[in-house]
Amino acid sequence: APAPLVDRFGRVHTDLRVSLTDRCNLRCTYCMPAEGLNWLPKAEVLTDEEIVRLVRVAVQRLGIRSIRLTGGEPLLRRGLPGLVARLTELGPELSLTTNGIGLARMAEDLHTAGLQRVNVSLDTLRPERYAEITRRDRIDDVFAGLAAARAAGLAPVKINAVPVRGVNDDEILDLVEFAAAHGYRMRFIESMPLDAQGAWERDKMITADEILEILGGRWELVPVGRHGNAPAEEWRIEGTDTVIGVIASVTRPFCGGCDRVRLTADGQLRNCLFATTESDLRALLRGGADDAAIESAWRNTIARKGPGHDINSADFVQPDRPMSAIGG
Ligand code: GTP
Ligand code: 5AD
Ligand code: SF4
Repeated sequence: APAPLVDRFGRVHTDLRVSLTDRCNLRCTYCMPAEGLNWLPKAEVLTDEEIVRLVRVAVQRLGIRSIRLTGGEPLLRRGLPGLVARLTELGPELSLTTNGIGLARMAEDLHTAGLQRVNVSLDTLRPERYAEITRRDRIDDVFAGLAAARAAGLAPVKINAVPVRGVNDDEILDLVEFAAAHGYRMRFIESMPLDAQGAWERDKMITADEILEILGGRWELVPVGRHGNAPAEEWRIEGTDTVIGVIASVTRPFCGGCDRVRLTADGQLRNCLFATTESDLRALLRGGADDAAIESAWRNTIARKGPGHDINSADFVQPDRPMSAIGG
């Protein structure tokens, strides 16, 4: 077995998030401006071959066991089932986070290629509100994508919602009931200061305490805890098998157990969502580096990892790259 990918706080990294593209087919107001962003030129984006090479090093030499494919919107990546099949051969657990658009068409092929599960973003159940939040009138594609994922056996299908005050915070109970009725697992995420516009406001964030108060007003909740180092803390509705997750990055940070490392679509390794430096693995790859050199750059990046994010400190500064270019 490879030596663990461990940082100076003793955190062992076994989970890699790989962003496949920085592009997206939605324009969520809490994420990016209506006109979109300056997308990466194609030449700067890692090829399938390059991604497979880096994932092979991660799995075989660094002890990475779980890979999550992200974006932008990862389903926009051409030939995705082919890439998934190649990553599956390397043996890690494989999951994907998507906005669900296009999933109806691809779920079956992705499952056949070896994808195990999907998380789908859905902030509202109301078509007009969905169009306002995402600036695209496509909620039906998301409903169809969710159903197709379930039918294809991509289980469990989780729904991610970011409640924002005055926007969709009145739908927390409705979202739970929708998910429970359709066999999906609902999760609520505290909004983080990672939008491209730098317009995050703490007061607009719905905190874990508020979410739990709303849920607790309707149901009796039984704490389930966390799966390993996962960001989500879970509660079960008493007397049912409905489980609800809360990802409270801001008010209940979980950096002490962080086991994650991130690769951007342009081949930059980040040791934290909020990292201020990156390591250029693409330059190494394209410069002809051997596996040992890539392994060593990777270990150095983790050795530099800080204790955690700084969101709650007075002099917090947002990282240069927005969420959509990191993959969340
Ligand atoms: P599971 O494996 O299903 O638990 O997935 P996940 O929750 O780790 O991944 P997903 O892509 O669904 O992300 C859900 C939310 O968690 C997003 O807002 C991510 O930005 C956030 N998130 C994921 N990993 C981290 C992390 O290491 N730190 C912080 N602060 N947030 C994270
Ligand atoms: N804070 C927290 N979560 C966010 N997401 C997008 N932007 C933010 C943000 N600023 C969510 C998406 C998706 C997941 C990957 O991250 O809604 O479900
Ligand atoms: Fe890990 Fe950084 Fe997320 Fe904290 S903020 S859990 S250190 S990636």
